[in-house]
Amino acid sequence: MTTESAPGRAMPADRIYLDHAATTPPDLAVVEAMLPYLTERWHNPSSIYVEAQATRHAIDEARATVARAVGAGPEEIVFTSGGSESDSLALRGVLAASTRRGKHLVTSAVEHHAVLDSAEQLEREGLAEVTVLPVDREGRVDPVAVEAVVRDDTVLVSVMHANNEVGALNDIAEIARRVHERNPHTVVHTDAVQSAAHLGVNVDRLGIDLMTFTAHKMYGPRGAGALYVRPGTPLSPQILGGTQERRLRAGTEDTAAIAGFARAIALASERREADLTHERHLQQRLIEDLPRRIPMLGITGPRDLDRRLPGNVSCVVAYVEGESILLALDLAGVAASSGSACTTGSVEPSHVLVAMGVPAELARGSLRFTLGRGNTEADVERLLEVLPPIVQRLRALSPVPTTEAPPEYLPWLEGVPA
Ligand SMILES: Cc1ncc(COP(=O)(O)O)c(C=O)c1O
Repeated sequence: MTTESAPGRAMPADRIYLDHAATTPPDLAVVEAMLPYLTERWHNPSSIYVEAQATRHAIDEARATVARAVGAGPEEIVFTSGGSESDSLALRGVLAASTRRGKHLVTSAVEHHAVLDSAEQLEREGLAEVTVLPVDREGRVDPVAVEAVVRDDTVLVSVMHANNEVGALNDIAEIARRVHERNPHTVVHTDAVQSAAHLGVNVDRLGIDLMTFTAHKMYGPRGAGALYVRPGTPLSPQILGGTQERRLRAGTEDTAAIAGFARAIALASERREADLTHERHLQQRLIEDLPRRIPMLGITGPRDLDRRLPGNVSCVVAYVEGESILLALDLAGVAASSGSACTTGSVEPSHVLVAMGVPAELARGSLRFTLGRGNTEADVERLLEVLPPIVQRLRALSPVPTTEAPPEYLPWLEGVPA
């Protein structure tokens, strides 16, 4: 018997989960697909005996499923532990394999830290010379600007498909086309961690050479991800030891996680239309109603849903710290997140919002709601009910007057005045 696809029990019934971009509840069908590899078929897939061969076979099947979902061949998929590892392998692996051709690396200011920090580290080590491209006020990278900075010694361009904070979608096909036209040897990598499940990415249609994606953003388990590698792409392994993954990533495979990843991505393909319609509907509702109900709030990222990741709703709220709102929302039963990274007790404004031009003070009031399969109209209604009084209460505590937004906030806010 196979378990029907159903969202895992995300939260107790009285709580609402609006943080699907952070991670998704594993689908029950995914959990079922994983169980045999935790209980009976736990053997090392590299071993010779018959039990081990069954786990080897499971990995081969999973690889074929994952490859099919992104329009690739099985031999083009390298399983990793997730998005961060795939990003790191892409950047470090290409730079290490291309030393004779150059060390120029191009990326954008709004990438996930898995990319940005890898680029910075490579530069510190003297292994890369990095150009960081700006973005427009929606958080998107201009393909013409990418082409303009590609040089003869540019070995890698890494631009994300969908931004995890503001949901901005980049025209990766156009970026890849322009980069390859300018320099056919330049490798194009895209981080499709947030978009792979929602949009159904196809490596040939995108025209990229490397693509990062991960299971736990598509109702799969933590601990499994992949890097798509187009044949002929220069790539050096970054984890050495065994001969797994065609020597590109050593380490005994997590058969259960990989089997779960395959089930999750297959389910995402089957459910794509339904998921998309559902998430777009709830997303639209919030994008329209949040600024109506809360003065001095602005939606960040693209307003046009064709340029925005389904399910993503991000905003800034003037005169309130995003973290304070999140704590109050948590008490009210809503789990959400902000674009800010809380480090050493002080809240740094999100690098994404700052790169888009949002004033740093206003960026501190950022919130991100990411909707998923399990959310309902009632969840959205509840958020719209509880959030306005929270903002009002926190503004009332502010030591500065909060009735009027300063002029530099105005281009970012809707629902002005208070
Ligand atoms: C765009 C993007 N890239 C990479 C990652 C890292 O993925 P993982 O958590 O699988 O390491 C994330 C996770 O939030 C992400 O949103």
